[in-house]
Amino acid sequence: MPLKVEPQNLPHHVAIIMDGNGRWAQKKGLLRIQGHQEGVNRLEELIEVVPDYGVKYLTLYAFSKENWNRPKLEVSFLMNLLSTYLDLKLKKFHEHNVIFNFIGNLNDLPSLIQEKMKRNIEETKKNTGLVVTFAISYSSRLELLQACRKIAEKVAQGVLTPGDITEEMISQHLYTANLPDPDLLIRTSGEMRISNFLLWQISYAELYLTDKFWPEFTEEEFAKAIQNYQKRERRFGLTTVNPAS
Ligand code: FPP
Repeated sequence: MPLKVEPQNLPHHVAIIMDGNGRWAQKKGLLRIQGHQEGVNRLEELIEVVPDYGVKYLTLYAFSKENWNRPKLEVSFLMNLLSTYLDLKLKKFHEHNVIFNFIGNLNDLPSLIQEKMKRNIEETKKNTGLVVTFAISYSSRLELLQACRKIAEKVAQGVLTPGDITEEMISQHLYTANLPDPDLLIRTSGEMRISNFLLWQISYAELYLTDKFWPEFTEEEFAKAIQNYQKRERRFGLTTVNPAS
């Protein structure tokens, strides 16, 4: 096991809000887009090492639905970065046995990027390693709204009654239907917000917030997050206290 992490009690699914690219760049006197570029480098390093920490699912908040409102130039840089990434990294991660997955309102994306995503999904679907899910043009509230509409349609058609609706059914109507819930949610850059990310799915996730900006989030920082997670007692709403005490 790399970097002093005990092999027990490891998170199966880690979700990350990769925040602070812009501030990292500004602090260094660079352009914000250089921060995004450096952020992609960290992302690439992490995808390679997280399976060594027992992680099977890695879910990354790469672009929120709200991010479309950023300056046009920054949005087009991020889209180009994504487009290039989807071309250049496919081969490398395919060789690493990675399965690529994308969640979000993907219809918002340029059709060329949608096609590249489909190609990435198709070419890696038979792999058996780490499942890397990119949340792109993602909004958790929209995801829940779309799930409600799909379920409501089934009720309207008489396929279901309102009483048939279960938590499991709601989970199965989300973009993440094929993923387990995250065990650990990491957010970089010192912000203490969830920012409309996986609101339903993180109900019992452990949160790890760090002041490091995303471009500073190296394997060593990831190992610290894991060590911190290993000290947590996950109770899922139960208690370990003896009722007689
Ligand atoms: C937050 O930093 C980061 C983003 C909005 C984009 C995150 C994306 C990447 C790290 C790479 C994207 C992945 C691919 C494959 C293209 P920020 O700009 O909000 O930073 P700030 O809060 O300091 O302004």
